[in-house]
This record gives sequence, C-alpha cells and structure tokens, in this order.
Amino acid sequence: NKKVLVLTGGGDCPGLNAVIRSIAKRAKKEGNWEVWGSIGAFNGILKEPQELVKLTSKKVAGIHVKGGTILKTTSKGDPLKFPIEKEDGSWEIIDRSEELIKKIEEMGFEAVISIGGDGSQRISQKLYEKGLNVVGVPKTIDNDLSATDLTFGFSTAVQVASDSFDKLVTTAESHHRVMIMEVMGRDAGWIALHTALAGGAEVCLIPEIPYDIEKVVKRLNKRYDKGKGFANIVVAEGAKPISGEVTERLSGEIGYENTRLGGIAYQLSAQLKKAGLKADIRETVLGHTQRGGTPVAFDRILATLFGVKAFEMVLNLEYGRMAAYIDNEITSVPLLDAIVEYNYIKKESFLVQAAKGIGISFGD
Ligand code: F6P
Repeated sequence: NKKVLVLTGGGDCPGLNAVIRSIAKRAKKEGNWEVWGSIGAFNGILKEPQELVKLTSKKVAGIHVKGGTILKTTSKGDPLKFPIEKEDGSWEIIDRSEELIKKIEEMGFEAVISIGGDGSQRISQKLYEKGLNVVGVPKTIDNDLSATDLTFGFSTAVQVASDSFDKLVTTAESHHRVMIMEVMGRDAGWIALHTALAGGAEVCLIPEIPYDIEKVVKRLNKRYDKGKGFANIVVAEGAKPISGEVTERLSGEIGYENTRLGGIAYQLSAQLKKAGLKADIRETVLGHTQRGGTPVAFDRILATLFGVKAFEMVLNLEYGRMAAYIDNEITSVPLLDAIVEYNYIKKESFLVQAAKGIGISFGD
C-alpha cells in the first residue's frame, strides 16, 4: 500500500475534521492507499516514539460535523525553528527540517498534506524547497490568505459573531447603551465587516481603515440626537486609531510569536469616553468562541471539497501547491502564491462602499 500523511497546524478552525474525513474517504476509493495523521502537526513526527494515527473509515466516521481537529494542533509546529530547553533553563532554537524530511521518507510516506494558515503554508513551502513532497490546504477563520477566494472556518466565525451581535442589539436597546463587540481576524477586518453587514452595526472598525475617534463619536452622538438611544459597534481585534494608543500584540511564547491582539474593545471604550461620548458603554470580547463548535454547512462543504482535491493532487504528484477556491471552482495554486501577500480588505472595494452606502461608519 501507498501511504500519505495528514496534519493540522496553527490555530484550530471549524471544518478541519471535514477535510481529514474527505481525504480518508477519497483515498479509500483508490483501494491501495493508507492515510495516516500526525498528532500535533510536524512535532508529532519529531517525537520519539512518533505520534501517528491511522485514519481508517471507522476513525473518520461522522467527524465532519465536529469542531476542532481530531489530530490536535499546535502553534509550535515549526520544525525549522524548534525550541529546545537547555539545562540552565534557557532556550535554543534549532532547525530540525532535514531530520523531519528523512523521518517522513523512512516511514514510507509518498507525501504530506498540510492543512493550515499562512504560517503553516510558509513552513510547507520551505520544506518543499528542501525536498519534501507536500500539498497544502488553506485554513483560517480570518480569511486572510491570498490565492483563495475563501477559506473554511470563516463563515462559521461570522455566524457565531452575528448570533452574538443580534443578542447585544436587544440589550443595547433596552438600556440605551453603546455596545462594543470585539471580533478576531488578526490583521484583517473580514470577520468584523461581514458581521457588521449581517447584524446592521452603526460602526465597524477594521485594521485596513484606521479610525478617527472624533468621527466615531460624532456618528454616535448624531444617532442619539435623533432619538435612537442605542448603538452597536463591531471592532476587529487589529483595528487601530489614526493617532494615539494602539493595541500591542500579547507577549510571545518562547520561540514563537503569539499572533493574538485582543483587548481593543476596552481601549476603544476608554477612547470614546475621553472623546466625550455621553452614553453608557459596555464591551464584549468574543474570543475563541468564534473558532469552536460545529462548522456551518458551507464550511463543511468547502472543507470536504478541499480534502478531495488535496488527495487528488497527491495522486497527480502536484507538489508544492495548495488547494484553492477561485471563481466558484476548486483548483490549485503554487504555495508561493498563498504566502507572498496578505489578504486585506481594500478600502475602495464594493464591500466597503456598500457598507458605507447603508450608513455603516468606519470612523474615516
Ligand atoms: O488566526 C486565527 C486566530 O483565531 C486569530 O483570529 C487570532 O488573532 C489568533 O488566531 C488567536 O490565536 P491563539 O489561539 O493563539 O490565541
């Protein structure tokens, strides 16, 4: 039998299990393939003994509806920057990529399917350049990967955020309050803007459009003056004002940068008060609820199609490439295309203009 190895790297994301299941099911149809998963991404291979699991039909049955990943994941899965704790308690970062590639070959794997975000795709590209047969599958709730129109996990995150937003509207209205809801998205505002559109926010603050706090206050006061005594703001964790304090990244773990921003809701609340907003303000930070739980149907479907495509890329020896969703088709692109640039919202896009057209303020 031929063997392929599957792993999930970076943050978890609704739809990961659906990818794993569809790879296993598509491979079974070939009749002469075994699918194995590495527990804890590339680190699972570097461990002694290795942490591998055979992805049989029984193992993957019904998992497509489950959040998280049965293969676990780690944000510390970079074999090129592997932290080793020394006897004196200090840390040394070493490159274990050659050792990793050798181990994968010795175990008889034809290829690796690496499901991950931009960090994971970057690692895959480097390993590919060093000789590993690797295929990528894009994953992120942030939708910040270029070279694919959408990633699975994003629709679920928007759904979770929209459900919470709807709940905040009724309590804002009852108390004449301004509610600030902070959503994830790293350095992009995709989750925030989609949630603002779905829920009908008055203000949406995103990293791509630095906000002027005076303009935000003006927009809110105008609404209060009209007698609509409440308002709802969606703020992306990476949003920043045109001047003044900015959100700092939370401190990194040893050897790795922690990508989480977080806490902007509270900063914004203080800025609004300082700028003269009279209304009572409350803050909600949704955090990891946006990444947990059952994927919505669209994400299950996209993830399933990506899994089938990824396995067929292995069959066709299409290495160094990533499955992608472009113009309503599932296709593949060079891994390099996915990592050369970050997928930001463009200010002049119809998305932003339409939001402005229905009265959503970006504070610009
Ligand atoms: O990339 C997904 C994401 O959830 C971001 O939206 C967020 O900034 C980050 O990961 C959080 O990372 P962690 O799970 O390490 O806190």
